[in-house]
Amino acid sequence: MTTVLGIESSCDETAAALVTGDRRILAQHIASQDEAHRPFGGVVPEIAARAHAERLAPLIEATLADAGMTLDEVDAIAATAGPGLIGGVMVGLVTGKALAMASGKPLIAINHLEGHALSPRLADPDLAYPYLLLLVSGGHCQILLVEGVGQFRRLATTIDDALGEAFDKSAKVLGLGYPGGPALERLAASGDPRKVPLPRPLKGSAEPHFSFAGLKSAVLRAHQSGEHADADIAASFQAAAIECIIDRTRKALKAVSGVPLNGLVVAGGVAANTAIRTALEGLAAQHGLPFIAPPMKLCTDNAAMIGWAGVERFALGQSDPLDVSARPRWPL
Ligand code: KG4
Ligand code: ZN
Repeated sequence: MTTVLGIESSCDETAAALVTGDRRILAQHIASQDEAHRPFGGVVPEIAARAHAERLAPLIEATLADAGMTLDEVDAIAATAGPGLIGGVMVGLVTGKALAMASGKPLIAINHLEGHALSPRLADPDLAYPYLLLLVSGGHCQILLVEGVGQFRRLATTIDDALGEAFDKSAKVLGLGYPGGPALERLAASGDPRKVPLPRPLKGSAEPHFSFAGLKSAVLRAHQSGEHADADIAASFQAAAIECIIDRTRKALKAVSGVPLNGLVVAGGVAANTAIRTALEGLAAQHGLPFIAPPMKLCTDNAAMIGWAGVERFALGQSDPLDVSARPRWPL
């Protein structure tokens, strides 16, 4: 059975995992850097790169040790090669190259977005191509038609902020700390979503793209006006965001109405939001589609998804030369 070592270091999670061709995660370790970045209210690239460099090697050793394996027993090494913060990407990719060189095993350079896009197939053996993926996190905000390994149609992206970024910035306005998405969801539960009039950017527009900057600014104005309770602002923000997501995803579903989809999938850190999941589940049901939300540990940045993308590429006989470059930008 194929076993691939996955390495992830493109943002603020340092991670390693061993994944098999029959969808077992033999071992995995994730070191989050939230504490290091919290004082700055966002990810600081230089701090992230240093932390990856300090943590990655011991983390890979621990992952191999947990599985009782040596590098010789691994079939391939899959490392994120972009897109992301270039310092961190380079740490992971160079480490992957060194291990590949030392062990003589093939290196597979993985697009981090492909890792997210294929991760639902690691969790669900029955999920066949094609499916529609809503990828929403602090750094990503896209709707993708996933047709196969390396076969994607990007139907929508954000023209300004990512959805998680809008949650985080709105949470910051309300004094909820970083990352503020989960805290904002908790506060929204006690507020009235109809109290504060907020815009629904791009709702109804022809292309299924996203925009959240105007919504975030409106939250700031609502807060500064002093006329509204924070809980009502949080609830109204979340309701507006959900209305946008549903409208945009509905538009994307329409754009691929001729494609025999096998599911509507949500991934990325924002998939943790219960209200968003519930709304998407309803949309999927309206379209007669299974709704798939992988377990949260696969939705947020992790190395198992990178290992799994490696498994899928390895099965197709693909690998990359050792001089493959790290790429800060790398659209699917
Ligand atoms: O995937 P992830 O761990 O990291 C990347 O951004 O790549 O996603 C983190 C993002 C943050 O913006 C965080 O605020 C958001 O996901 N998030 C949430 C919730 N949980 C996490 N946003 C809204 N509601 C939540 N419950
Ligand atoms: Zn990510």
